[in-house]
Amino acid sequence: MSLVERNHEIEIEWLAVYKDYQNKGVGSNLLHYAISIAKNKNKKFLAVRTSSRNKKALRFYRKLGFQKFGFIADAYSWGETQVVLKKRI
Ligand SMILES: CC(C)(COP(=O)(O)OP(=O)(O)OC[C@H]1O[C@@H](n2cnc3c(N)ncnc32)[C@H](O)[C@@H]1OP(=O)(O)O)[C@@H](O)C(=O)NCCC(=O)NCCS
Repeated sequence: MSLVERNHEIEIEWLAVYKDYQNKGVGSNLLHYAISIAKNKNKKFLAVRTSSRNKKALRFYRKLGFQKFGFIADAYSWGETQVVLKKRI
């Protein structure tokens, strides 16, 4: 997991769990750690962007309280849309 600090929020730049270790709660634990950092730094939001096709990641973030905040069309060179998700801290 890589985090970037901005004025009012922490952004998850990327988050990935090695395939053999997925679905064991590692990703959720990392997210809870990111939430605690955002809380300690008095940030308003924890933000993340992911491909609109990444259904597992979208379900994962929604389950942990993230809501759709916006979309970035043509975010990748192959024309896919990115979803911006934010969790209020
Ligand atoms: C998205 C990602 C980070 C999630 O990480 P993870 O470690 O698999 O996440 P968790 O195990 O905490 O939770 C994922 C699922 O496992 C379930 N789970 C959590 N703890 C569990 C446990 N102890 N036993 C079984 N299942 C569990 C969750 O309910 C969740 O299920 P759901 O997706 O059906 O709702 C991981 O799939 C990944 O690295 N994907 C590739 C990279 C990527 O897409 N990153 C996000 C883009 S920014």
